[in-house]
Amino acid sequence: MFTEAKALRSARPRLLPRLVTALDALATPHGIDRYLEWVDPTWSTRDVRARVIEVRRQAAGSVTMTLVPNGGWTGFEAGQYTRLSVEIDGVHQTRCYSMASSAHRDDSFELTVKVHAGGLVSSYLYAEAHRGMVVGLSRAEGEFVLPAVRPEGLVLISGGSGITPVLSMLRTLCDEDHRGSVAFIHYSPHEAEMPYRAELARLSDEHPNVRVLRAFTEEPGRGELNGLFCDAHLGAADPAWRIAETYVCGPGPLMHALRARFDREDLGKRLHTEAFTPGLPASESGPGPCGAVRFERSGIEINADGRTLLELAEAAGLKPAHGCRMGICHTCTRRIHRGTVRDARTGMTRTVVDADLQLCVHVPGGDVSLDL
Ligand code: FES
Repeated sequence: MFTEAKALRSARPRLLPRLVTALDALATPHGIDRYLEWVDPTWSTRDVRARVIEVRRQAAGSVTMTLVPNGGWTGFEAGQYTRLSVEIDGVHQTRCYSMASSAHRDDSFELTVKVHAGGLVSSYLYAEAHRGMVVGLSRAEGEFVLPAVRPEGLVLISGGSGITPVLSMLRTLCDEDHRGSVAFIHYSPHEAEMPYRAELARLSDEHPNVRVLRAFTEEPGRGELNGLFCDAHLGAADPAWRIAETYVCGPGPLMHALRARFDREDLGKRLHTEAFTPGLPASESGPGPCGAVRFERSGIEINADGRTLLELAEAAGLKPAHGCRMGICHTCTRRIHRGTVRDARTGMTRTVVDADLQLCVHVPGGDVSLDL
């Protein structure tokens, strides 16, 4: 697996920035990326993309993908997430997923996606993820990370699909041969829905300082915690939990119960949380809609409402050329005369003058006028 990942990563083009700029200018309006993609769809001078090299459905209702990112990926810290983009029925969709792997193994990394009721992207990935699939990514983001100096005592708690960032922390600590005590508790409705069961058991067996507890609402077995969180679970995981640092990612009720428990003992500073929420679509992942978009050539104006420039153009009755709708093919690239735009893949907002941008992955962040 790692041999294949390294081979794929070493095959990416390493072009000098000035050369890229010059070639980009020559390749206007599509840019050099359009031509690189003909060689390999993961190649890009600007975008982070990844190829899926393995797919596992290790637990009921979830899919685990191993991805090899291109050279735009700059690694991650355990606990961070990426904004993954796919095209579904011709529409660019973006959701946030936490890396599940050790941060020390970033030639490839895992994302485990649990299907949510009505979850468009999670259902799509569960059904369609396959070896060779190419997805868009953002660089790693998020503040839910371990301190550089690892605490002596750690309690890692997850519920449902919140397992991925805390598993990444556990795998990272094991790779570092961390010697402090680490207690890991995972809450799940039942065993069949819990991913990484075998690996958690192995980590616990191989590392005497690691203790793994599982809590199932339905039919808990011998040695497993019963049901939902209760005060006794912390003591069962680590009698010294009050002087440990606790990291938790899970659904609202679990987070609230833990917050109340820690606040009762004035230990709030020792609790670090990441709320589990299904990823937001691009139109909901940034600042609220604002500004007016003017399509100069058509003489049409429309108010921004959180949709991408491509979606707004179509809503205004225009038919701009497009392909992937996910920032890969560059077919939708158009000249922006002036305006403020947010890149839906990275969340970064910038003001541009006479710039060529992909309409499908840019959202107005203020007034925008463009050549359409
Ligand atoms: S980059 Fe392919 S449609 Fe926008």
